[in-house]
Amino acid sequence: MKGRRVAVTLVLGVVFVQVGTAADLKRAEEIVGGRCFLCHGMEGENASALYPRLAGQHAQYIARQLSDFKNGQRQSETMTSMVSDLTPGEMDALGRYFENKQPGRETVSDSELTRLGQIIFASGKAPAGVASCASCHGEKGHGTAQLPRLAGQHVPYLENRLKQGHKQARTNDSMAIHAGPLRLTELEVKAVSAYMAILQ
Ligand code: HEC
Ligand code: HEC
Repeated sequence: MKGRRVAVTLVLGVVFVQVGTAADLKRAEEIVGGRCFLCHGMEGENASALYPRLAGQHAQYIARQLSDFKNGQRQSETMTSMVSDLTPGEMDALGRYFENKQPGRETVSDSELTRLGQIIFASGKAPAGVASCASCHGEKGHGTAQLPRLAGQHVPYLENRLKQGHKQARTNDSMAIHAGPLRLTELEVKAVSAYMAILQ
């Protein structure tokens, strides 16, 4: 008897979680359709290469960035006003919404540039104290729940992000480790960005 009651409770629990998830995703879709799609597209595929591609990005990473935009830890004129009314639950749902979408891929025709990028990505630049990007972001730039996926991201966005690191414009603690790229030259930033963009 007791065993059966536990089983029924478990089944009800699973049903409840699934219904909750579907409702959250519906809410996320409404928010994306209401404003985010203008720049990020309904599928996270983007209107412009200056905006980050969100398709396939990790849910937890997205949710944390949204919360950082809201509390001012990450500054962006554009994004701050987009998130001011979002609840933590909506941020989580938006993360899951975009994570489920198919990641993109870029093409870069300059193979010398991407070869230089590959070396930096895999090995860093030891004499300048720049750690291997792969050591954190993964060999293929797929990231983890806490670390952004870089594979297939737009080149101009990646370059901007790294250059913002150059200027130390960011107050976001986690981005501070990118003081490393401070010691990458302009060409090296271009090369490593091109390489990350073509990773799958
Ligand atoms: C008017 C254009 C625009 C709209 C609309 C917009 N964004 Fe953005 N988004 C940007 C830009 C530009 C950035 C890059 C900011 C930076 O340089 O740090 C960005 C960055 C982000 C990031 C960080 C991605 C990363 O890889 O670190 C997330 C997550 C995000 N937006 C989600 C959203 C969501 C969710 C909405 C809707 C609620 C939204 N955005 C609406 C332009 C927009
Ligand atoms: C010690 C671990 C570590 C190393 C080494 C590292 N990163 Fe990162 N990287 C992170 C973390 C953590 C974040 C997320 C920061 C945040 O929360 O805003 C990040 C964010 C980024 C972003 C922003 C992505 C986005 O979607 O906005 C880029 C671009 C990036 N890293 C490129 C690089 C490159 C290129 C290298 C090598 C030169 C590198 N990283 C080395 C941990 C690392």
